[in-house]
Amino acid sequence: MSEKNFYITTPIYYPSGKLHIGSAYTTIACDVLARYKRLMGYDVFYLTGLDEHGQKIQAKAEEAGISPQAYVDSMAVGVKELWNLLDISYDKFIRTTDDYHEEVVAQVFERLLAQDDIYLGEYAGWYSVSDEEFFTESQLAEVFRDENGQVTGGIAPSGHEVEWVSEESYFLRLSKYQDWLTDIFKSHPDFISPEGRLNEMLKNFIEPGLEDLAVSRTTFTWGVPVPSNPKHVVYVWIDALLNYATALGYGQEDHAGFDKFWNQGTVFHMVGKDILRFHSIYWPILLKMLGLKQPDRLIAHGWFVMKDGKMSKSKGNVVYPEMLVERYGLDALRYYLMRSLPVGSDGTFTPEDYVGRINYELANDLGNLLNRTVSMINKYFDGQVPNYEENVTAFDTDLAQVAAASIADYHKYMEAVDYPRALEAVWTLISRTNKYIDETAPWVLAKDPAKRSELAAVMSHLTASLRVVAHMIAPFMMATSKAVLSQLGLPEAGSLEELKLADLPSGLTVAAKGTPIFPRLDMEEEIAYIKGQMEAGKPAAEKEWKPEEVELKLNKKEIKFDDFDKVEIRVAEVKEVAKVEGSDKLLQFRLDAGDSEDRQILSGIAKYYPNEQELVGKKVQIVANLKPRKMMGRISQGMILSAEYGEQLTLLTVDEKVPNGSLIG
Ligand code: ME8
Ligand code: MG
Repeated sequence: MSEKNFYITTPIYYPSGKLHIGSAYTTIACDVLARYKRLMGYDVFYLTGLDEHGQKIQAKAEEAGISPQAYVDSMAVGVKELWNLLDISYDKFIRTTDDYHEEVVAQVFERLLAQDDIYLGEYAGWYSVSDEEFFTESQLAEVFRDENGQVTGGIAPSGHEVEWVSEESYFLRLSKYQDWLTDIFKSHPDFISPEGRLNEMLKNFIEPGLEDLAVSRTTFTWGVPVPSNPKHVVYVWIDALLNYATALGYGQEDHAGFDKFWNQGTVFHMVGKDILRFHSIYWPILLKMLGLKQPDRLIAHGWFVMKDGKMSKSKGNVVYPEMLVERYGLDALRYYLMRSLPVGSDGTFTPEDYVGRINYELANDLGNLLNRTVSMINKYFDGQVPNYEENVTAFDTDLAQVAAASIADYHKYMEAVDYPRALEAVWTLISRTNKYIDETAPWVLAKDPAKRSELAAVMSHLTASLRVVAHMIAPFMMATSKAVLSQLGLPEAGSLEELKLADLPSGLTVAAKGTPIFPRLDMEEEIAYIKGQMEAGKPAAEKEWKPEEVELKLNKKEIKFDDFDKVEIRVAEVKEVAKVEGSDKLLQFRLDAGDSEDRQILSGIAKYYPNEQELVGKKVQIVANLKPRKMMGRISQGMILSAEYGEQLTLLTVDEKVPNGSLIG
């Protein structure tokens, strides 16, 4: 086995909606590893793609009134555009509707049937369409009963509703491999990282006993039909897991990629904790049944959650990567996501944190260091970087030691796929280097001609340190790495092997003027902006009214009447409206809400009202006691209520005869 062949995969995502920062996280995390390994001299194959079959996709297509194929085709275009925007360096994009994949899935199913690893039986259980997964009653997070105590339904641990499904089904003999899998887990304790997850799987799922898994469905058709019994389609998870093998040519005429990257390579799968069970139990057993080698490592990461829990459109707390890239650039997003999700647990996305990290860590710590370095070299040495010499000032030894330790830590944590700590190691060097400027005080050295060689050493140490930093951030922030190096007169990052402070090339000329690599942001304004964008993603509730379901508990965060009573909604008349200069989203309103003075409200609805003057004279509904906030430097004193439907939005108007200021409740 060549240790230099490296295969890294993301989960293949369901194209059932726009991808949010969660899927972007996994894809960027794999991209960072792929880029790091390439810079470490590996031959890398990076796979991502889409999981396009199953009932959920079929239902989405029906909703959209198009065929499932047309639906997934259009979704695939959007996902590829997103990965291009995020500069994802994947080598292949697999779709489970690709012919070669479907053929191998059918082939594998028949083979497992022939070797009695699959058999025909009957299935009955609680099924969640959203999770494409069956649950036993005891696994449900919540169970609904009728007045006789009969179970009538329930909620899966994911929060999705389940339904009772009973049908003929094929089964995969997981039970037969229970002991084998237990042995694998016990003899390869580092198969799953982070630590702890392996034991969790063992204790929660394997040791209690593996039940055979239903691996075909007859209640819908959007999937790979079983060749010998085509009323069955292959269960979406069997179909999906096999992507990791088919993408490399497994089961096909040209399987050189599979030989190279699977059989003779190191295989890493990265997944979210939600799907670790599928990857740590079903996948190894499937591979064993097919007589194939096991993956080397399964990396399970936690989730990005919001202050108010899981991201969900109805809560209006979903963050889409496009918006963040458009406003703050790609590198800030990649940096934030990789720096903020601790290994082994969930992380909270907050607008405050996002803007804060850009300002403090990127603009301040790194940006300033570069700027100060470039401008001092211009000022004191006409832009020519003095040659690197060791141990000239009293502070050089310590800086060199910190740099060496930072590089060692960086590699250690990159190998462990612990990005927050790897980046922390880089920022330790950045901080130490900033401190080095204060300690050496070049502006003092510059006044004394006898200190010329010390001043030269300081400049070359700063350049050398930034060179090392720019290399270490290269897998995370490609453009920033390049920009730093180019301002120092260096080519883009090459190998990360044997990175050393002392390897600074001689004869460098820095840029005539430093260009800030990250702008400093107005915290308050930008936090409001991100929050506004999250709100704007909220869809209208479009549920059908079913009287017989009214007694079921709504799956909502409830508030008390007193809480609601705090909200003051009033009728207000639009007196004046105007576009806000410098913003294509905001409209500025002057409204009469029956107070002694008119009030000003800014609202991000410009695109819905291209002829905004039509709103003058309308009576709308406003939240009158919302804490005022600043947007684009202007005060907004409340919020105008609106209804969203599809891609449209309409302000809620009230009959003309209702006086301004009337209370709504
Ligand atoms: O499960 N934080 O697809 P999926 C971090 N098709 N990561 C998140 C996240 C969040 N809030 N939300 C999603 C499927 N993810 C199957 C996979 S693989 C053979 C088949 C990431 O679209 C995370 O990696 O539901 C999670 O495992 C994946 O998206 C699930 O994507
Ligand atoms: Mg999922």
